[in-house]
Amino acid sequence: MKTIDNLLEEDLHGKTVLVRSDLNVPLDESRAITDDGRVRASVPTIKKLSDAGAKVVVVAHLGRPKGAPEDKYSLRPVVGRLSELLGKDVAFAEDTVGESAKSVVAGLKDGDVALLENLRFNPGETSKDEAERGAFADELAAFADAFVSDGFGVVHRKQASVYDVATRLPHYAGGLVGDEVTVLKRLTEDPQRPYAVVLGGAKVADKLAVIENLMKTADRLLIGGGMAYTFLKAQGHEVGTSLLDAEKVETCRTFLEEAKANGVEIVLPVDTVVAPEFSAAVETEVVPSDAIPADKMGLDIGPESGKLFASKLTDCKTVFWNGPMGAFEMAPYAAGTKAVAEALVEATSNGALTVVGGGDSAAAVRQLGFSDDQFGHISTGGGASLEYLEGKSLPGIEILAD
Ligand code: 3PG
Ligand code: MG
Repeated sequence: MKTIDNLLEEDLHGKTVLVRSDLNVPLDESRAITDDGRVRASVPTIKKLSDAGAKVVVVAHLGRPKGAPEDKYSLRPVVGRLSELLGKDVAFAEDTVGESAKSVVAGLKDGDVALLENLRFNPGETSKDEAERGAFADELAAFADAFVSDGFGVVHRKQASVYDVATRLPHYAGGLVGDEVTVLKRLTEDPQRPYAVVLGGAKVADKLAVIENLMKTADRLLIGGGMAYTFLKAQGHEVGTSLLDAEKVETCRTFLEEAKANGVEIVLPVDTVVAPEFSAAVETEVVPSDAIPADKMGLDIGPESGKLFASKLTDCKTVFWNGPMGAFEMAPYAAGTKAVAEALVEATSNGALTVVGGGDSAAAVRQLGFSDDQFGHISTGGGASLEYLEGKSLPGIEILAD
């Protein structure tokens, strides 16, 4: 696999480099960026190319528009932050491969940077039809002499700007993709033990494949967040009105048995913060996880669980964490996520490799007041890192291999 360092050995003056970044940042109602982690993570690669004299054309997506322009998914809110962090004005094209993009790219001088509008405004970007994707990739490739793949958060997507473009241009792994893959290798190839994985978030169905694979590599699996209730149900407990994926109870039961047989420790919450409804303005109480009242829902792991989870993490040499422990956006339900974050910070200072996986988990720890350097690595890709840990091949990485 060639990397950006190989590309930087060439004289890039007069050359145009297409960079696929992941600038899919959360925005508030006024479309201001609420967590700029992905923009910051994208800057080093863009800056290196620009400093080397290349004309840099950055392409990215935001949200999931359906192949046509929609104001609320415009990348325009990102241009200002990108310019600030790069320390130079970034030109913005109002479309992806249309008149605006063509004229912006044609106007670039050596060292200039342009950002094109949301790739997913064009149906070719995410099409399942290879010819349609290929036609869009042809148009993107026509802008440039080389392609740098740096959008780690999308490398699990077989999309035009991630996969097909690499078959049309000399291609290189960007610095961010390189760093992320190096860390993930340390989690999968002979991890230092004890190795614990903490999984949370709402949807148990999204995590089944990774749990299955982690059963072969991890020593401990800690499960919190909305997905924990399906596991509690599988243990025979009632979960009141908590999130439940009734169709997956059997699978979870099988996992619990498999874990026992494989010597993997599965740790579930022993107590739960419950409330009559999903709101910050109602009375909450803490109950044992096997005594959730029929008319209440669990919204965070309880304080005993926070202590239990911490005790299973602080002596670890390797920890991967994906997904919050509760509805941390609301103050009454943030303590569990905070307890896990604190335990990771302690493990980090004890010398462990700790990895916070994913845009949402990363945003959660920053929102709770932690800083990036308190953890070993904060990944920019939740879905991508989970698929890597599932053992799946990632199209956007595979295509860079030759
Ligand atoms: C993400 O937010 O996980 C990445 O930017 C990928 O976005 P997607 O899940 O919409 O493909
Ligand atoms: Mg996502």
